[in-house]
Amino acid sequence: MTIKRVRAHHLAQMKAEGTPITMLTSYDAITTRIFDEAGTDMLLVGDSYANVMLGYNSTTQVTIDDMVLATGAVARNAKRAFVVADLPFGAYETSPTDAIANSVKLIRAGASAVKLEGGVRMASTIRAIVNAGINVVAHVGYTPQSENALGGPRVQGRGDKAEQIRRDARAVEEAGAIAVVLELVPAPIATEITHELTIPTIGIGAGENTDGQVLVWTDMAGMTDWQPSFVKVFGEVGTALKNAAEAYNAAVRSRSFPDDDHRFNH
Ligand code: KIV
Repeated sequence: MTIKRVRAHHLAQMKAEGTPITMLTSYDAITTRIFDEAGTDMLLVGDSYANVMLGYNSTTQVTIDDMVLATGAVARNAKRAFVVADLPFGAYETSPTDAIANSVKLIRAGASAVKLEGGVRMASTIRAIVNAGINVVAHVGYTPQSENALGGPRVQGRGDKAEQIRRDARAVEEAGAIAVVLELVPAPIATEITHELTIPTIGIGAGENTDGQVLVWTDMAGMTDWQPSFVKVFGEVGTALKNAAEAYNAAVRSRSFPDDDHRFNH
């Protein structure tokens, strides 16, 4: 299937055809252009923007205004990819009215869908946003905005907790979500949910059988010294960038740059 611009119905079609869906986080113009040209199906302006780009130690620190700024940068530069923007902590829990108002801000910034965390407990909010004509991607399993309540990043749904994850996944589908992220869910549970739901599942630390996969781009590109164990590093971009910066610094300090080939001709 050749898709000029990925839309919600293409994601459903990809699930039906068994075509894996690729998703990466993106937070700015330049990386968005690269990931879009690489053919990434979905770009997530994740609230991981807080840690990855703004240097906070929790996703709960990022505001709706921060997310609007990043979403605009991504949406203006994604020609093909389906852009999903995270509703940050505090932007949707207070009431469905707040959730709709903040979703509108992200859609106005150019997102094709908003994402929020929570299953059964967020079903009525998801329904309200969907009724306002806005695509919602849900996020269940480990939900980083509730890191304090969940006791930090850990696999959710082990043993008798599995039924809760299944209930969450069913609830978001029934509420009208177009897809659901399954984070840190045991692979057998993620597989079952993927077979049961009609909407696509996008896994992160949830095994190989979900309909799609999502990673934080700085993890998969080797920008950091440490990655979670479920991350594969697909390129050593951080090392390449450091090498480039060191070469530049050395050239400036030795006055070998600018040289005859790199001067502005007056
Ligand atoms: O914000 C984010 O990066 C996310 C992914 C971990 C799915 O929500």
